[in-house]
Amino acid sequence: MELLHHISDVRALRSSLGNVALVPTMGALHAGHVSLFQKAKALAPHVAATIFVNPTQFGPREDFSKYPRTLEADLQKCREAGVDSVFVPKVEEMYPAGCPEIAIEMPGLSDTLEGQKRPGHFKGVCQVVLKLFNIFTPSHACFGEKDYQQLRIITALAETLNLTVEIIPCPTHREPDGLAMSSRNRYLSATERQQALAISKALRAAELGFQQGFRQTNRLTTTMLHILLESHLLVDYVAAVDPITFKPVQEATKPTLLAVAARVGATRLIDNVVLGGK
Ligand code: PAF
Repeated sequence: MELLHHISDVRALRSSLGNVALVPTMGALHAGHVSLFQKAKALAPHVAATIFVNPTQFGPREDFSKYPRTLEADLQKCREAGVDSVFVPKVEEMYPAGCPEIAIEMPGLSDTLEGQKRPGHFKGVCQVVLKLFNIFTPSHACFGEKDYQQLRIITALAETLNLTVEIIPCPTHREPDGLAMSSRNRYLSATERQQALAISKALRAAELGFQQGFRQTNRLTTTMLHILLESHLLVDYVAAVDPITFKPVQEATKPTLLAVAARVGATRLIDNVVLGGK
């Protein structure tokens, strides 16, 4: 496995390769990331991962400095998963001193839910992902559905700007008890981890309601809120939106994304489910 630190190293390697499937990550890898690597392996002869905790997507009061950095363990996971190259740039490599600010905004998509609660977050995500796409010129790029809004925005970015990369959605990986895998789960104490289960339970309860024929989304989201509040989670939002436009949905008569963001102690977690197929 090639370990690359500079953009020039990536470009030199890239010139000798055919199709490349890219898996951008911020490290602290878990089984969910490994499933993205496996998907990528089926798509192209070369799988490239990136490990970069991107400062521009964190707000001033967010967890950039304490975000878990576990490089050695991450590289081992990449090796075991058969990743061919890993790009681990320093912040100065991606954002050299004096580089101007750049803003990609998608009104309607990037200023609701996560974008509303984390102003500037998607601007940073789009900036780094577009840079990585330009550095790697991948044929495919894999993103998890747990960050559903991010996946939608990156897909829209690729379509709208006529990028040649194909964005591949990958299903959320869950622990056996239902908790969605996330690098931030490692912040949770044992008690908090138990509390955090309320998120997947709430989504499951809404899914069951939907399967029983309930279509009014406020009924489904009220059920979810009860479950979350019972476990003393601090709810940022529970929303029912169209998975393409992210506009609110009142009646789930077509595919509807139920999305949750909630805090368990100091840890903010997100999760979602799509009712009625994708
Ligand atoms: O989902 C993530 O880990 C990050 O937002 C990404 C896509 C790697 C960009 O920094």
